Amino acid sequence: MNKKVILSGIQATGNLTLGNYLGAINNWKKMQEDYDCNYMIADLHTLTIRNNPDTLRNNTLDLLALYIAAGIDPEKSNIFIQSHVAAHAELAWILNCYTYMGELSRMTQFKDKSAKHADNINSGLFTYPVLMAADILLYQADLVPVGEDQKQHVELTRNIAERFNKIYGDTFKIPEPYIQGVAARVMGLQDPTSKMSKSSTIPNDSIFLNDEPDIILKKFKKAITDSENIVRFDKEKKPGISNLISIYSAITGEGKENIEKKFDGKGYGEFKVAVAECVIEELKPMQNKYKELKDNPDYLEKIYRRGAERAKEIAIKTLKDVYEKVGLVW
Ligand code: TYM
Repeated sequence: MNKKVILSGIQATGNLTLGNYLGAINNWKKMQEDYDCNYMIADLHTLTIRNNPDTLRNNTLDLLALYIAAGIDPEKSNIFIQSHVAAHAELAWILNCYTYMGELSRMTQFKDKSAKHADNINSGLFTYPVLMAADILLYQADLVPVGEDQKQHVELTRNIAERFNKIYGDTFKIPEPYIQGVAARVMGLQDPTSKMSKSSTIPNDSIFLNDEPDIILKKFKKAITDSENIVRFDKEKKPGISNLISIYSAITGEGKENIEKKFDGKGYGEFKVAVAECVIEELKPMQNKYKELKDNPDYLEKIYRRGAERAKEIAIKTLKDVYEKVGLVW
């Protein structure tokens, strides 16, 4: 029986947040039994902002260790580093020629990032979603498990693939975004109207996956709520407390109504501590395993080398088909 194919990735920018965990990695872990999973470390994408080269190298290996520590099993899923498979950059070039400037200008992430990095609006930042389309289409992925913020990029991927297929006949599988769970968009703890982000400059806004328990507790205690002091889900009127309910729900598996009942009459102070405690408990095994893996670079190297070999085998088939279809001598 052929399993459906999954492809997803995270940028190797360091400082992963609880948003990355609940919106992506935690769901990936659950999909390993039933799907043919490819999980990539997106190092090429990080070049759209300025990085210190040593830091990027460290972040890349850190992210690999974190995937494994979080429960992505290299015996079940293919884990690889994007730049190790040259086909990603090669297909991205071809797809650039089938993507319109207008489409890329409408990407909200491009608009946000160019506002944030006004001194470095490079063309990589602009064509970044095309590289992401290449990542996905090379593996003929059926599903792309991502958080809410990446949905627009997967939709663009579909449009590019459909356009290409229309001209050249069936070449790419049309992928679906797979956005799961109550925490597909974890919001900032200090600004619950914006997503929790690795690059937030607001202190205590993001929970980082390597935060110590006392820091996590402190951040949740300081989380912005409202003056009602009733644990009730209302995204519009109570974005702060609703975000905390979503986080608690994603981790414990309890429904929102259950949570409201459980904390009825208890007030925000107690609820915030409960949320912090469940996050601390959830992250603890991953944090411990991560430390062990970081001390074992040989093992990590074995995993990424093997991953690259497997990924290349799949990717080259799609790339070859594309090269032939567009008329390159191959
Ligand atoms: P990145 O690195 O920004 O984020 C990685 C994953 O984490 C999810 N995420 C969140 N989910 C819920 N709440 C949040 N606050 C939150 N913040 C981040 C993202 O939706 C994503 O799933 N371009 C991608 C990386 C990428 C990729 C790909 C993804 C490169 N190629 C191919 C899928 C398929 C990115 O920058 O994600």
